Amino acid sequence: MEEKNHIYPIFDRMMTRQDKEELLRQHSVMIWFTGLSGSGKSTIAIALERELHKRGLLCRILDGDNIRSGINNNLGFSETDRVENIRRIAEVSKLFLDSGIITIAAFISPNNDIREMAANIIGKDDFLEIFVSTPLEECEKRDVKGLYAKARKGEIPNFTGISAPFEVPEHPALSLDTSKLTLEESVNRLLELVLPKVKNIK
Ligand code: ADX
Repeated sequence: MEEKNHIYPIFDRMMTRQDKEELLRQHSVMIWFTGLSGSGKSTIAIALERELHKRGLLCRILDGDNIRSGINNNLGFSETDRVENIRRIAEVSKLFLDSGIITIAAFISPNNDIREMAANIIGKDDFLEIFVSTPLEECEKRDVKGLYAKARKGEIPNFTGISAPFEVPEHPALSLDTSKLTLEESVNRLLELVLPKVKNIK
């Protein structure tokens, strides 16, 4: 702990978030997708990024499988590791937000405490929680990665929805069930929510 006494942050001399938002002519916001594996988080995130990009808005996606093969490649799926996974992701997201970039995270983030931690790190005013509410039966039927079949056979321990819990968010800014909505419909709902927040810059 003692080393901490010799750390001198230089935040006050760096260019600010506002400077960067003015440079980019956009406001940054955190778009945080939560939902089961295979619910459609990444697909929606990618389609949303494309639409925002087309409108001249700079985004950055952080996605489960990418982050877990890089910065978080030492973490598994125990409760403790999932907390650390999301803690690091939230801290990294904050760096992007502070650079004026619209930041899109697609992680299961399976419980209220974990999402609350992320929102607290990032700042609640900037945090848009989007629940991709596709039911488990549909995710399992799709089984894009073949993981549900393995989890059912007991080959993957702590698999969310099968042998590990998923808590439904209490007050998401938006819920999107991809078994009922087309990808275009989901993205349009998101654009309605996000565009007014990112575009009203002087
Ligand atoms: S989180 O729970 O810590 O937020 P994260 O979104 O990073 O999870 O990673 C989820 C992805 O890891 C899944 O889409 C799936 O491909 C893979 N995965 C591997 N093992 C598990 C598991 N036990 N539970 C859930 N997802 C798993």
